[in-house]
Amino acid sequence: MNRRPLGRTGLQVSELGFGCGMVGGLLVRGEYPEMRRAVARAVELEIDYFDTAPLYGDGQSEVNLGAILRELRAGVTVGTKVRIAVEDMAHIETAIAASVEASLRRLGRDAVDLFQLHNPLATQRRAESAALTSEDLPAVIRAFERLHRQGKTRFWGITGLGDTEALHRAVDLGGFHTIQTVYNMLNPSGGRRVPADFPYQDYRQLIDRAFAGGIGVIAIRVLAGGALSGTTARHPIAMQRVAPLATGHDYTADAVRARLVDFLVADGTVAGLPEAALRFAIGKPEIATALVGTSSLEQLEQAVAAVRRGALPPEALERIGTVLR
Ligand SMILES: NC(=O)c1ccc[n+]([C@@H]2O[C@H](COP(=O)([O-])OP(=O)(O)OC[C@H]3O[C@@H](n4cnc5c(N)ncnc54)[C@H](OP(=O)(O)O)[C@@H]3O)[C@@H](O)[C@H]2O)c1
Repeated sequence: MNRRPLGRTGLQVSELGFGCGMVGGLLVRGEYPEMRRAVARAVELEIDYFDTAPLYGDGQSEVNLGAILRELRAGVTVGTKVRIAVEDMAHIETAIAASVEASLRRLGRDAVDLFQLHNPLATQRRAESAALTSEDLPAVIRAFERLHRQGKTRFWGITGLGDTEALHRAVDLGGFHTIQTVYNMLNPSGGRRVPADFPYQDYRQLIDRAFAGGIGVIAIRVLAGGALSGTTARHPIAMQRVAPLATGHDYTADAVRARLVDFLVADGTVAGLPEAALRFAIGKPEIATALVGTSSLEQLEQAVAAVRRGALPPEALERIGTVLR
């Protein structure tokens, strides 16, 4: 597994990261032995970034990941998050401190490598999505810096979801080490210039801006929540209804659109669409690690086999761009 620098943290992370979120759901709804096997195999395959959050299964993902990593005695990089509820926005620093204590308890650890803000950022606070603004970030960063001084985290970061303008402002302000943001074949605007009539949110090359500022980029939704498999069938333990993030109006629309790149399978460039999606993501060198959410050990094995084949060739990328335009 290739490793890449995570911004200026000094950490090197595997180009494929292990998503412990709700969509694939293995670390939330899986059977414990299957989760344990998958995490053990991931470690064996040299995946060394594991991404969890209190919101994933109401803490269950942190509980399971913590227990498994303790059992395996695996020295991997662990990131979790904190989502500030609307009612706590008047006292951000206290809310972060409380959330972090609860996360560490669930994970069974004294510290994690990375704490990330889980709220999206917008130009104005928004109650319905619990969006914060870049003006809120200094308080968030002060709280994370305090945790660092207390030895509870090595690094801290934000989630790059929300309004493009607010995200660019946050990246320019800096003061954090990482950003998690969307990058996939349907919406590559975080890392590629897109035309003015691009149908989805234009992140205006947020990834490149963050990378240039020394911020470690963690790609999310590289399979568009599973739609880039080109089918609407869901694994039994996966989240059954997935709301798109910055792509089509629903999952089915994304899955239909994904089939436009079937030519890559037909011409033998890839064995299947998930492979194309993963190789597309790792083909962006400014991304330190591309997270994949999985429902089974088998999907994990397939993801690793895909990234081992390396980035998609330039002619494939060009044709994907043309077809999806
Ligand atoms: N900071 C944030 O706000 C945020 C937001 C989103 C995600 N994340 C992080 O990013 C991680 C990954 O994102 P995600 O889970 O939302 O979406 P994702 O990785 O784009 O999609 C996961 C889905 O892809 C499908 N899949 C995975 N491997 C496959 C394979 N080998 N073959 C076929 N299908 C495959 C599975 O669908 P089926 O189960 O139906 O087969 C799985 O449920 C999360 O776990 C989380 O850690 C963070």
